[in-house]
Amino acid sequence: MHQRFDDVSDESIAYLVDRFYAKIRADARLGPIFEGVIAAKGWPGHLATMRAFWSSVMLTTGRYKGNPMLAHMRLEGVRPDDFEHWLVLFQETCEELFTDQIAAAFREKAGRIAQSLQFGMFYRPEEHQPRAVS
Ligand code: HEM
Repeated sequence: MHQRFDDVSDESIAYLVDRFYAKIRADARLGPIFEGVIAAKGWPGHLATMRAFWSSVMLTTGRYKGNPMLAHMRLEGVRPDDFEHWLVLFQETCEELFTDQIAAAFREKAGRIAQSLQFGMFYRPEEHQPRAVS
């Protein structure tokens, strides 16, 4: 077991992305959701996108130019509790690779982004009746 990274860099992000998506692919619930979408364009492309994404989020490099909300709104068969599971795997991976403080920083960012993706994917304003004003 190597020492845990105590810095966020493009190198340590590359380890995180590789390790996390290896777990995702091996996961009985999330694996098939990803394979179905990513098989066509290939995993190397997705991993490169995710390295750029985390580099932008954690190092503000601006390398990622995409629209995560749109990409997730197109997905079929994702349930709200899949996000909980995604976050558990992500946190586990961060804790394996990084010192506690850095793992917590990744987890916090991921949690916020997961919240906003879920809001876009699952919130249906028409199903929420405004409360009657008396
Ligand atoms: C249940 C949870 C999730 C599932 C099933 C999921 C699934 C996917 C899939 C299948 C793609 C590929 C879409 C495509 O290429 O068309 C994708 C892309 C992506 N995901 Fe997720 N995702 C989840 C949660 C998250 C979270 C929490 C984050 C951020 C913290 C995230 C960040 C991204 C980004 C940045 C992309 C690339 C979008 C682009 O093409 O620019 N995902 N996700």
